[in-house]
Amino acid sequence: MIIAVDGPAASGKGTIARALAKHFGLPHLDTGLLYRAVGVAVVRSGGDPDNAGDALVGCDFPVGLFDDPELRSEQAGELASRVSIHPEVRTALVERQRDFATQEGGAVLDGRDIGTVIAPDADAKLFVTASTEKRAQRRHQDELKSDPDADYNVTLAEIRDRDKRDSERVTAPLRQADDADLLDTTDLTISAAVQRAIELVEAQKGAR
Ligand code: DC
Repeated sequence: MIIAVDGPAASGKGTIARALAKHFGLPHLDTGLLYRAVGVAVVRSGGDPDNAGDALVGCDFPVGLFDDPELRSEQAGELASRVSIHPEVRTALVERQRDFATQEGGAVLDGRDIGTVIAPDADAKLFVTASTEKRAQRRHQDELKSDPDADYNVTLAEIRDRDKRDSERVTAPLRQADDADLLDTTDLTISAAVQRAIELVEAQKGAR
């Protein structure tokens, strides 16, 4: 069974995808990490993330980079969003994601274009979202743990920027697949959101 989980930054899609993987006993791929690795690799080698040629070179990042904590930072998220605009970069990363999706037994993938481009025939598709303010609040709470001076308004602006870039790009923009179920987590606890996600997947896999 292939499960596609898409949605904007800080919507809870990663947490939900990991919980679905555990529940259904499937391997999980956070595809955002691929784009984050490309973005960080480009900058570390002195390249320009907004230049398609430089960004493409970054696609040859070393696999050890996945263990680098810097990949989880908001800066890496922004770099990822910038390199992900280039169609060349998206093409370079497609095969890896499709191979993961089509492995025997199935998989859960989360990202922006899983249900629309990477695995359009997935057995279940969710589009996880939450209000912009709620997503900024969640991200802000996280940031306060390591930086007591973190500013909510800066985080809100970053989330708005990222949403805009991810949904307005020409190639594989962030959007809900026609056959994906919408899961709005604005007013849900994590466990309620996970429970709802499991119910939606169960219902979809029975119906397809
Ligand atoms: O999910 P994330 O925040 O780790 O993703 C970081 C950026 O990577 C996101 O803003 C856009 C890009 N991305 C993408 O274009 N396609 C994906 N499938 C996953 C991420």
